[in-house]
Amino acid sequence: MEPKPWLRALIPYPPGKTLAEIKKELSLDGPIYKLNSNENPLGPSPRVISALAETLGEIHLYPEASYLTLREAIGKKFSVSPEEVILGNGSNEIIEFIFKAYIDEDDTIIVSKPSFLMYEKFAQIYGIKTVEVALRKDYKHDLESILKAVSPNTKAIFLDHPHNPTGSTLTWDEFTDFLKEVPQSCFIILDEAYGDFVEDPNVIRGIELFKKYPNLIVLRTFSKAYGLAGLRLGFGIAQNPIIDNLNRVRQPFNVNILALKAGLAVLEDSEYVKKYIKLVSDGRNFLQKELELLGFKVYPSQANFIMVDFGGTCEELYSYLLRKGFILRPLKAYGFETALRITIGTEEANKALVKEIKNFLLQKA
Ligand SMILES: Cc1ncc(COP(=O)(O)O)c(C=O)c1O
Repeated sequence: MEPKPWLRALIPYPPGKTLAEIKKELSLDGPIYKLNSNENPLGPSPRVISALAETLGEIHLYPEASYLTLREAIGKKFSVSPEEVILGNGSNEIIEFIFKAYIDEDDTIIVSKPSFLMYEKFAQIYGIKTVEVALRKDYKHDLESILKAVSPNTKAIFLDHPHNPTGSTLTWDEFTDFLKEVPQSCFIILDEAYGDFVEDPNVIRGIELFKKYPNLIVLRTFSKAYGLAGLRLGFGIAQNPIIDNLNRVRQPFNVNILALKAGLAVLEDSEYVKKYIKLVSDGRNFLQKELELLGFKVYPSQANFIMVDFGGTCEELYSYLLRKGFILRPLKAYGFETALRITIGTEEANKALVKEIKNFLLQKA
């Protein structure tokens, strides 16, 4: 049996390796600093652990079908109505809902090149053409060129914001000027997986814009700031008619009962989230300063990672750090031959990383 013809060319998403896989592959016995998938290095919130322990005895039951409790809690936190919220098995699933509900075979989507790979992967799965627009020289989304690329067939523009892997962002003026120009028949999907880490007030927050723009969909996730990557929980925010249509293609019980209870618990643990956001802000400043002092180009980031250009020693440094237990993300596949993406770690991890990079440079000298 052959798959659909367009699936033959599809290469599945290349995920970061798990700790167990890395330990096995490298036979490492010292500490391992997993800085390749932008996960929360603090571990889960203690409230989540208690909530999960309490819920284990209920896993023979389906979860609440409407997820109203969690949609209400999200609504309260982000000042939106529960009717403007849809939950997904990770925010990835909401990207898929958009394809299922709205994007036809004759439609096209626009993405920046490079950007988060799943937009293009879903387009390939559904047999939809992707138009790629290069980032600007400063690695921001090139909104002007994106507008020029919009055609009557363009159904959706996907923008990861902050951008993955560069960490770049957009200002209010830049983005609202763009929103005004995009035809109403085309969705703008603002994927704010890293939105919780933005501290610059000049940087847009989609949640404050969607009520004014009926074609704007904002995506958020519990995988990053909320420390629930392994449970898979994300949400979309948009005006209610869009949410209603996305719900038509959502399977019943798409979010499992553990993810549901964990989401409710972590929303009550604002101290945990605040602590992590501060850790990211401090760690980002620390790594930026230290790596710049060592002569490397660090790109400004408002996310929980930074992209660093290590020049000609990039590959060698990557392998050296791997042997020392530091797992970073190479960015060759994204077109950045000499850069690595580093997830901001704990204070201890960040210091140890800088120390090891200095050791590497000393050896090279
Ligand atoms: C820009 C972006 N969007 C979405 C996701 C996926 O989020 P989730 O775990 O909620 O599916 C990621 C994960 O790395 C990401 O970088």
